[in-house]
Amino acid sequence: MGDLDLGRWATEAIDAIGDLYGRHGGERATHAKGTLCAATFTATSAAAELSRAGHLQGAPVDARVRFSNGSGQPASPDSEVDGRGMAVTFDLPDGTATDIVALTLPVFFVRTPEDFLAFTRARKPDPQTGRPDFAKVGQFLEAHPEALPAIQAALGAGAPASYLECTYNGLHAFRLVNAAGEGTWVRWALEPDTPGDGLEPDEAAGRGPDYLQTDLADRLAAAPAGFTLVAVIARDADPLDDPTAAWPPERERVAIGRLELTGLAFDRERDGDVLVFDPTRVVDGIECSDDPILHARSWAYSESVLRRTGVQRGF
Ligand code: HEM
Repeated sequence: MGDLDLGRWATEAIDAIGDLYGRHGGERATHAKGTLCAATFTATSAAAELSRAGHLQGAPVDARVRFSNGSGQPASPDSEVDGRGMAVTFDLPDGTATDIVALTLPVFFVRTPEDFLAFTRARKPDPQTGRPDFAKVGQFLEAHPEALPAIQAALGAGAPASYLECTYNGLHAFRLVNAAGEGTWVRWALEPDTPGDGLEPDEAAGRGPDYLQTDLADRLAAAPAGFTLVAVIARDADPLDDPTAAWPPERERVAIGRLELTGLAFDRERDGDVLVFDPTRVVDGIECSDDPILHARSWAYSESVLRRTGVQRGF
């Protein structure tokens, strides 16, 4: 990250995101539209072998989950072709908490905060046409071919039929540390009990602007829904600080626990309550990698929280 001033970068990043999606008071700068759910998480016995973290020892813990669309527009139609988000907070028995904040994309667009800023600025719509300036985006991509796999995945996936049918990827590497002090590098994935294919654009549009939110409410009213938290185990020279680089598909995937969504949650983000998911919020037994995007995210999320709530984060 060199000498980058992350406070200043975060201000510029949230400004650039605002230029892209518009500024919507009180809303998240990105992932503005979403739905919060209540959940419980129960770790497998394999989890404790990898990490001594409090929520990975096998006793059920409370969790909360927010599913979202990637856009910063709170009224974005659910049929929009875009990545979808799944953010999870696990409440540990000792009163602390830790988060996983994941996307449907298999890799991220950029590997440095500076590139995030340049890419977001390049995507700013032309004020004359309201459409992206393809020459600027093209110029960025020419200089940054590492962004192409994420773009291809975002454009190719279509809109999902249900948030509950997607796999969500954590993309950054974390080091799990067990009771014996042994470390294992992993990336997180959240795999649905019932995976599904994306919808054709017409079909998605025909389901109405809020079909993902309605689907979630309807399905959870009928029955709980589940995800498996998976740790993808790094090997050899797998990159630990580059979210644009996929790991080979044959990497071992260890089931770490079951996340059961029990219903929608309406108990947060009211009466001044501030809810934020931050992938650098880790606990003993889980350590962040040096991935510069991972660390920059925390600053960007704080800036977004400050603008949407007036609250300066500090934990
Ligand atoms: C430098 C890169 C990134 C920037 C600047 C950025 C920026 C943001 C911002 C400003 C928010 C709103 C935060 C809030 O107000 O609470 C957000 C939310 C979110 N981001 Fe990122 N993000 C980045 C990378 C990523 C990556 C790599 C992932 C996934 C692996 C991700 C997944 C999400 C999700 C799921 C949410 C919604 C969280 C919620 O439901 O509250 N972001 N991001």
